[in-house]
Amino acid sequence: MSIDLAKKLAGYAAVDNHVVGPGMKIGIGSGSTIVYSIERLGEKLKNGEFRDIIAVCTSYQSLLLCRQHKIPVSTLDDPAIDGVLDIAIDGADEFDPKLNLIKGGGAAHTQEKIVDSAAKFFIVVVDEKKQSKKLGEKFSVPVEVIPAALNVVMKHLVALGARPELRMGGVQKMGPVITDNGNFIIDAKFGPIEDPGKLEKQINDITGVVENGLFTNMVSIIYMGKNDGSIEVFKRK
Ligand code: 5RP
Repeated sequence: MSIDLAKKLAGYAAVDNHVVGPGMKIGIGSGSTIVYSIERLGEKLKNGEFRDIIAVCTSYQSLLLCRQHKIPVSTLDDPAIDGVLDIAIDGADEFDPKLNLIKGGGAAHTQEKIVDSAAKFFIVVVDEKKQSKKLGEKFSVPVEVIPAALNVVMKHLVALGARPELRMGGVQKMGPVITDNGNFIIDAKFGPIEDPGKLEKQINDITGVVENGLFTNMVSIIYMGKNDGSIEVFKRK
């Protein structure tokens, strides 16, 4: 089974197992796995199984996809939403046994943290490559920074034990990656992280940092699609 099918299993499971009634307000994350959750939501709206749901998106990627699938969208400051979502569904780059996450592979973690933390129930959809014993084993911690603060923040991240690198675009975007909020991303390689909750706060204490990609104590449930075609479910204890 391909990794894409594993992502699809997880993306569909989140919608099939959690989106229930009309009027539900749903946070929608970013990345390649959430594409399948958006596809499933669109399909169920079209066939009449769901109605009157409202999505709050975390990036231009998910906003455009929701529009393409005719899913009504709004924002957290819409009075009908008033800063509270029933559920949020999002991907992740790495997760540990305590269901802490590293996110931000798609440079969208700031808006993702805002939306995901506004949800009463936060659902994560991943493939099995994302599972690790300790966060940081596989992935660097993305840090969104105000461009003018780049060098200052880099020095502070080194002092915290990281090897920081400015994330660069590719052939289709020369120079640094610019987030949907107009900022830079630093990928801070820490290696295995002993205390993700402490590090999350330490990074956010640096002046010039907008938000980092450590998501601790937020997740309610994780659906992990596996290459053998099964799904493993991890619930917050
Ligand atoms: C974007 C994210 C994504 O959710 C994360 O990178 C996972 O993406 P994918 O589903 O493509 O593996 O945090 O900022």
